[in-house]
Amino acid sequence: MHSLSKTSLLNKIIIAIDGHSSCGKSTLAKAMGNALGYAYISTGDMYRAVTLYFIENQVDIKDKAAVLKALKQIKLHFVADENSNRIHLNGRDVSEEIRKMYVAELVSPVAIISEVRREMVRQQQAIGQQKGVVMDGRDIGTVVFPNAELKIFLTANVDVRAQRRFDELTAKGQHVDFAEVKNNLAERDHIDSTRADSPLRQADDAVVIDNSTLNHEQQLELALDLVRERVR
Ligand code: DC
Repeated sequence: MHSLSKTSLLNKIIIAIDGHSSCGKSTLAKAMGNALGYAYISTGDMYRAVTLYFIENQVDIKDKAAVLKALKQIKLHFVADENSNRIHLNGRDVSEEIRKMYVAELVSPVAIISEVRREMVRQQQAIGQQKGVVMDGRDIGTVVFPNAELKIFLTANVDVRAQRRFDELTAKGQHVDFAEVKNNLAERDHIDSTRADSPLRQADDAVVIDNSTLNHEQQLELALDLVRERVR
């Protein structure tokens, strides 16, 4: 049982978690959300769902008008169940589909597009208005909530991250190659960190957690200590 009880947090805050691909941001966001009684949102799921829509509807990502038209037709909803926060794309639960490699391979080029980012950030800021939210992504502490009370920058060694993602995909029965998974991570990190619009970077006031050698419980305890400091 975590010593930070849900009712002790009268002061609801916004918690922003940013970091590299596959370092466990959504696992931490979800665990913090559960421990605090906060909503948690993995914004990567939103970019992945948009990517899935673009793939399925053959939207040419170089055609700005087509992108804008497609964005108007995309309705995203999060539906919380006991174990996870499911994302629905136009009423269909796509939570499993968006984790597949064919989506992962196209998501960074889609997340570069300013029109896509503007619309996602608008929706994310609307969700955060009620406070009491843990949101993870790449630009949460820098662009979406620059005034978030707590910002965490999560990272881990690339081999550790590739192994975790490989194990996750294999456990789901997907046949993937370790090198392919690792290359995809490295490539996404590169595109995400070097793009012109809202690149992945550590906010000046973010606290860095390297979880290469931490288990879930240890990283959660560290993060909840930071919350305690902020709400005191
Ligand atoms: O967190 P994830 O790996 O599911 O994110 C998928 C991709 O979405 C990631 O490669 C970059 C992009 N992304 C982004 O550009 N901005 C965010 N706030 C979240 C994700």
